Amino acid sequence: MAYSEMVMEHFNNPRNMGELDDPSGVGTVGNAQCGDIMRIYLDIDDDGYIQDVKFKTFGCAAAVATSSMATELVKGKHISEALAVTNQAVCDALDGLPPVKVHCSLLAEEAIHAALWDYAEREGITIEGLKPPKNDIHEDDEDEEEDY
Ligand code: FES
Repeated sequence: MAYSEMVMEHFNNPRNMGELDDPSGVGTVGNAQCGDIMRIYLDIDDDGYIQDVKFKTFGCAAAVATSSMATELVKGKHISEALAVTNQAVCDALDGLPPVKVHCSLLAEEAIHAALWDYAEREGITIEGLKPPKNDIHEDDEDEEEDY
């Protein structure tokens, strides 16, 4: 399996890694098959622009690279633009992913959506076109053991 140079670059030098102290929204998603977990923090201003974004990912190289790229793609964007950042867009920006790694980019899309959902819930607003996260992981579920 070969990763593109772009994937290796973002894996070796991840952008926006870390967390935000006072985020507007946080989304944590996981993939039950590989056990990887991705969390995205958003800082959104009153006009709906993403001022800052950070991620924490416990996962494979592709998961780290897609988190890094996804945060770059939504930074400074309006909520509506961030919503349009699909896993395909993340894959394209990374010059592609090996087929067995495409699910890793899906995690990035889902994490952004989950963070936007959290933001909308906190603000009591509805974001047009945003669906509730499928596999959002809540803080207190994280230690639970699962049998695969
Ligand atoms: Fe699961 Fe990459 S192998 S996120």
